[in-house]
Amino acid sequence: MNLAELNKVATAMVAPGRGILAADESSGTIKKRFDAIGVESSADNRRDYRELMFRANEAMSKYISGVILYDETIRQNAKDGTPLVKVIEKAGSLPGIKVDKGAQPLPMCPGEVITEGLDGLGQRLAEYRGLGAKFAKWRAVIDIGKDMPSYACIMTNAHALARYAALCQQEGIVPIVEPEVLMDGDHDIDRCYTITEWVLNTVFEQLYYQRVALEGMVLKPNMAIAGKKCPKQASVAEVADKTVRLLKSCVPASVPGIAFLSGGQSDADATAHLDAMNKIGGLPWKLTFSYGRALQAAPQKAWSGKTENVAAAQRAFTHRAMMNGLASLGQWKQDLEKKAA
Ligand code: 13P
Repeated sequence: MNLAELNKVATAMVAPGRGILAADESSGTIKKRFDAIGVESSADNRRDYRELMFRANEAMSKYISGVILYDETIRQNAKDGTPLVKVIEKAGSLPGIKVDKGAQPLPMCPGEVITEGLDGLGQRLAEYRGLGAKFAKWRAVIDIGKDMPSYACIMTNAHALARYAALCQQEGIVPIVEPEVLMDGDHDIDRCYTITEWVLNTVFEQLYYQRVALEGMVLKPNMAIAGKKCPKQASVAEVADKTVRLLKSCVPASVPGIAFLSGGQSDADATAHLDAMNKIGGLPWKLTFSYGRALQAAPQKAWSGKTENVAAAQRAFTHRAMMNGLASLGQWKQDLEKKAA
């Protein structure tokens, strides 16, 4: 393992004013997104849609430090035959790859899941490295509900995340460690805080036992936020204050950066929350975005599968990338949204 090289890549992934585009939707998830805009989920449509983002030059060169790809996309060529990985690199961004194989029911723990994909992962990582991947992603899913999460769910998922991270570093790939506490329930922000604290402490304990070098990874957590169905939604200031306090108490300063998932927040909320945290300032790590839905909802809608809408979709993507780039510096302003609307 070359820690200096891993640290260099991790630092570039969270470079000031930039963040990560999560474009690694599985075939099932991208189909759902395409269904919503009335587009058939064919390999060509998936390619055309993702290519339009990767060719949005201003967004990619100024605001997007890296792109998380799905297995299909890392092997795909652009319409003109150029590998999509090369299109991303040429724009000055880093290609990455989702390597988990999704969540499956966790035995004996009704309603809970464990992320699979460790078998053969070392070989798969070596292949992805050959295809150009500089970093990888593994997502663990923790749901909050009655008697949930269980110790078993948190422990097994943290263990798998650390196994994955150690394998990545051994192969010279920076792991994005993503323990996602879902915001689907009716729990309040304080319950999300307590559970996320438990999850993060367990994850960092496992990373320590499995000898993962924290300087060579990026953490991708949820924010401390009320569940979508909670009648009492927290203000932007409360989300920012509680998330910063939570992360300061759980994430060692040797981690170069934290790149949040959006997890079903609206794009406006995801930007406002990130900005408010960076406005607090005085943080030991970089705080940025690794958004999927919060970066892509607007361009997907603008595109709607039509060639004549490509430029409008690229503008919508560039706008969200720029707003989040500013938020990663604590320099976003509500007025900037109005001007674009
Ligand atoms: P969202 O921002 O849509 O939550 O996606 C980020 C991601 O990569 C989830 O694994």
